[in-house]
Amino acid sequence: MYYNWKDRTNTEELKIVCNLIRNGELVIFPTETVYGIGANALDTLAVGKIFLAKGRPSDNPLIVHLADKRKIDEVADDITEVEQELIDNFMPGPFTLILKKKPIIPDVVTAGLDTVAVRIPNNIIAKGIITFSGVPIAAPSANISGRPSGTSIEDIRKELEGKVSAIVDGGKTEIGIESTVVKVVDEVPVILRPGKVTPEEIKSVCGKVSIDSKVFQRTRSTDVIYSPGMKYRHYAPETKCKILYCENELDQIFYLKKFIKEYQGNLVIIGFNEHKEKVVLDEDRFISIGRIDNLNDYAKNIYSALRKADKIRPRIIIIEGVKKEGLGFAIMNRLLKTCDYDIFER
Ligand code: TXA
Ligand code: MG
Repeated sequence: MYYNWKDRTNTEELKIVCNLIRNGELVIFPTETVYGIGANALDTLAVGKIFLAKGRPSDNPLIVHLADKRKIDEVADDITEVEQELIDNFMPGPFTLILKKKPIIPDVVTAGLDTVAVRIPNNIIAKGIITFSGVPIAAPSANISGRPSGTSIEDIRKELEGKVSAIVDGGKTEIGIESTVVKVVDEVPVILRPGKVTPEEIKSVCGKVSIDSKVFQRTRSTDVIYSPGMKYRHYAPETKCKILYCENELDQIFYLKKFIKEYQGNLVIIGFNEHKEKVVLDEDRFISIGRIDNLNDYAKNIYSALRKADKIRPRIIIIEGVKKEGLGFAIMNRLLKTCDYDIFER
């Protein structure tokens, strides 16, 4: 069933949706980052359905979503001082913390690890569904494994309808890229996946922060992997993609034009509004992502833009890169994976 809660949550329908969750069914719902495919995290069979629906490798654990901080103790154990500081400062929000797991969380959720990823979404629909279901909800991003995450129902309806019992439409998600994932190792918060909560913010709270070396690198078989998700290709359209990033804007325009020439116009550019008029290209082949100085819009629009570009079936998608600073850090992490680390830099 499809439920439209773009303008407001319908309480009768909320009851139906929460019953589905309690009965072991899958529900697609919005969070402030991206849409999730949720199931009762305490129900092994229900969680198994998520892996099937997404085609997700079973060694990639899921995030457990809770309604509020008081619930953390029910799923996690031995919370340290640094972990508590992170909880106090960044939850609820686009932030996921890896904690020592309690036995109540089944192995299928955590892929057999002794830790559990916990997040408290800051979105009224997500909160309502978690609260009234009365159970923690395991939910990965709503997309077929490997594809860009879903930030609007229009983008994912075709690929996931039929695999879930309900779809709750809350409109375009606010942030557009997934939560920051952090694990505290030897009292230092380590960023396993960058997101809206930046390294700078974490450092300002805890006095220290470190970035897992795999955030900007392909993983190798010999690497110690803290987060299994790092091993897999992600956020990728079917078309070949390349990042273009020049520090100097004039160079950037020059190379945009060069790529247009090289591909004789058979490409799609995902780029800044300001650059659209500077190049000669069919209207629908330049997808504007936002203004140069607005990384929030970049994050919000990127997954939809990738899906839109893919539909045109060009020979290549050229994506304008950004400085790895603030939110740009997370954006570049996603883009590098999207492009399988293919970047043209000057
Ligand atoms: O914003 C988000 O985080 C969205 C919304 C729906 O909450 N969820 C999301 O889930 O992005 P997913 O499954 O697409 O990504 C979860 C990431 C994966 O990279 C996974 O490997 C990692 O979190 N993860 C989950 N449990 C973990 C654990 N116990 N230890 C280390 N990494 C873990
Ligand atoms: Mg995902």
